[in-house]
Order: sequence, then structure tokens, then C-alpha cells
Amino acid sequence: MSGIGSGGERRTSLHGFWSSRLAFVLAVTGSAVGLGNIWKFPYMTGQYGGGAFVLVYLLAVLLIGLPIMMAEILIGRRGRRNPVTTMRLLGEEESGTRHWQWVGALGLLGGFLILSFYSVIAGWTVAYIFEAASGAFNGATPAEINARFSALEGSPWRTGFWHTVFMLGTILIVARGVERGLEQAVRVMVPGLVVILLLLLAYAIGTGAMGPALEFMFRPDFSAITGGVVLAAMGQAFFSLSIGMACVMAYGAYLPQDASISGTAAAVVAGDTIIALLAGLVIFPIVFANGLDPAEGIGLVFKTLPLAFGGMTGGLLVGVLFFLLLGFAAMTSAISLMEPSVAWAMERFGINRALAGSYVGGVIWVLGFATVLSFSWLSDFRFLAGTLFDNIDFLTSNITLPLGGLLITLFAGWFMSANSTAAELDPRAGALYRCWRVLVRWVTPALVVVVFLNSLGLFR
Ligand code: PHE
Repeated sequence: MSGIGSGGERRTSLHGFWSSRLAFVLAVTGSAVGLGNIWKFPYMTGQYGGGAFVLVYLLAVLLIGLPIMMAEILIGRRGRRNPVTTMRLLGEEESGTRHWQWVGALGLLGGFLILSFYSVIAGWTVAYIFEAASGAFNGATPAEINARFSALEGSPWRTGFWHTVFMLGTILIVARGVERGLEQAVRVMVPGLVVILLLLLAYAIGTGAMGPALEFMFRPDFSAITGGVVLAAMGQAFFSLSIGMACVMAYGAYLPQDASISGTAAAVVAGDTIIALLAGLVIFPIVFANGLDPAEGIGLVFKTLPLAFGGMTGGLLVGVLFFLLLGFAAMTSAISLMEPSVAWAMERFGINRALAGSYVGGVIWVLGFATVLSFSWLSDFRFLAGTLFDNIDFLTSNITLPLGGLLITLFAGWFMSANSTAAELDPRAGALYRCWRVLVRWVTPALVVVVFLNSLGLFR
């Protein structure tokens, strides 16, 4: 299957290739696994009624997340440019219009907005490395742990400082070129995180509230499945899998031609989902054992896990390691959030990675102060979804990511020819390919549209 690009030959990547298929799997895993799994999934599960949310989330991952991730990788690899240029080139080739480039642009915008708050939460994580190291969690009561978190959250100086530290670190790594460092980091970090989560799971089983936690997470109360829950669960699937904003597409541009896209996507989706569930299985037993509120909100992970670290033997070391690894996990996600914009700026303005990274990172750093202040000086400034942070979060997870994802599946399913998509996924067009095609043409877009329509009531 050749015959792509105006010259008829395959395009080649402008910024090099991943050293292997494994390197790509690691990079996409690094993007997917992050605060979304350990910070956001548990607190959303708590806020949106437990099992009902988990059930819808799992369905969204399977029927919406997986097919879109495959579509993004295949588009990225076929275009081999930054997402804006890739969508423009493929749009011209496959449907004779340049306008698909706006899907790439929407992705760039999403990346800016998401990273602006992501970096603030990641900053809290970095701050907690030091909190854990100070021994402050040792034997602390839930009230004391609570107070420590409120003090951090409410201080724009401390929150702003750690946001700055995190952003600087991210810019530095992006500037130095991602491939090598990213690969190494993910190789250590993901297994490390899983080991600590398993340790914490053992502790959580020991505290005795595993029963209520399992019940909460896996016995869905079907009457709790409202339009709002479904929208939130779908948004979380997009957020956690890093899809809908062309970030996986940007990474796909560097994927060697012979790597299997479906195998890669399935592995990443399975790993990401297992880690999120594991985080829930650790956090909820602690919630119920200590009489905390599962619907606590964005502070949930910072108010529960310290209790575990403070109560277990060797908890100081485990706590430091945990927040360190979580910080790294957040950083590999942050790098991927910047990649579409950085690749775009490099190609568009002919500047190098360091300069592109600094500009993009600088703008995001400034934007981040909207979130920093949402927890302190501007905490009473509320409109639409709530604080400035709530609005940025809602706009990205529930609107721009699903909209981007919808356009991506429509493009892959209806505008790209079956020849083109089969050439990337499976030149023999076997049963798996045909199944994927039915999903991206019919099932996935229909589900996204139905969820959107169904949640319109929220805006009334
Ligand atoms: N998936 C990342 C996480 O779970 C966040 C992210 C969203 C990264 C969108 C890239 C794109 O933490």
C-alpha cells in the first residue's frame, strides 16, 4: 500500500522516530498514566456516585476510547507531521479540504488549557514529596491531614511556587528532546507506581474497609446514571487516555511503519484502566475506614493516602517515593500535552525545540495562575461550572476533548478511504479491522453525540 502524499511515496517523520515499538508504547503509556488515574479518577468516582460512574467509564473506555486512540495513532503515522499539518495534509488528500486542520488546532488549544491546571495539581504532588519527607504524616489524624492540604491549596504563593517548579522542569525536559529521557523515565515510573499501589492495596485490605469500598465502586446504582454522570464519565475517559486533543496523534507521527497500532492501543488502554481502578481500590477503603466523605472532591487523594503513609511501617519512605513517582507520571503527561504545540511551533516558525518549548511553556505557565488563584483569592469568583479552574476543567474534559474525538472518528471513518485506514491498521482488512471500522463510523460517533445531547439539560 503506497500511494500517499502527492508524490505517491510515504512521508517520513520530521523529528525522528521512536527507537522501537516498545518506546512508543512507553511514551503513550507515559502520556496516559498520570494525575488522571490517581487524582482525578478516584475523586470523580466519589463525586458521581461510585459504581454507576465506574460502569459508564469502563464502557466509554472500550467503545469510545479504544477506537479513537487507534484512529489518532493511524492518522498521526500517516501524516507524519504536527497535528495541524497532518490534519491539513490528510484532509486535502482524503476529502479535498484544508479545514480538517482545525481539529489539530483544537487539540493544541486543549493542550494549553489542560496543562495550565494540570501543572498546578502536579505542583501539589511535588509539594507532597516534601510534606511526606518531613514526617508530618506520621500518626496524624484525618483532621490534621485535612488542615495540611487546605493550607497548601489556599496559599497562592506556595501553590504558585510549586506550579512554577513543575512547569520549569517540564520545559527543561521538552527542550532537551523527549525520546531518550521519556523512555527511561516511563520504564522506571510505571512499574514503580504499580508496586507502591500494590503495597498500599495490602495496607488498605488490612484496614478492613475493603468490603464497603468494593461495594461502592462495583455495585452500580442504576438510578444514579444521569446525563451529568454519563458526560463526566465520558470526559474522564478522554482525559485519562489522553485522546481527543491530538496528543497521541503527535506521538504517532514518530511511530515506525511496521509497528502494530491495535496491539499498542489495546495495551495502553488496558494498563491505564487497571491503574485507575487500582488507585480507587486503595483510596476508598481508607475513605470508609476513617469516616471520610467519598465525595470530598479534588483533595481526595491528598487527604487519604497520607493517612496510609502515616499509619504503615516504612510509610515515610513509601510516601516520599509515591509522590515522587506520581510527580514523574504527571511530568510525562505534561510533556505529551505540550508536544502538539511544540511540534507545530517548530515546523511553523522553523525554530528549535528549546525555543518552541520555552514559548509554549511560558504561555501555559501564565495561564496556570487562573487555577492557582481559583483555590485562594478567586475562590468566590464563580460562573457557569464554578471557579475558573472548574470551568477550564469542564470545557476541556467535557467539551473540547469529546468534540475533537468526535471529529477524529468521523474523519477516520467517513472521510478517509478504507484503503488508507486499512493500510495503517491491517492491509488484509481482517475481522478486527472491520470491527474497528464499524465502531469509528457508527458506534463511537453516535455515542459521543448522544452523550452530548443527553447532557444539554445541564446547561439549561
Ligand atoms: N492522560 C493524562 C492523565 O491521565 C492527562 C492528559 C490528558 C495527557 C490529555 C495528555 C492529553 O493524567
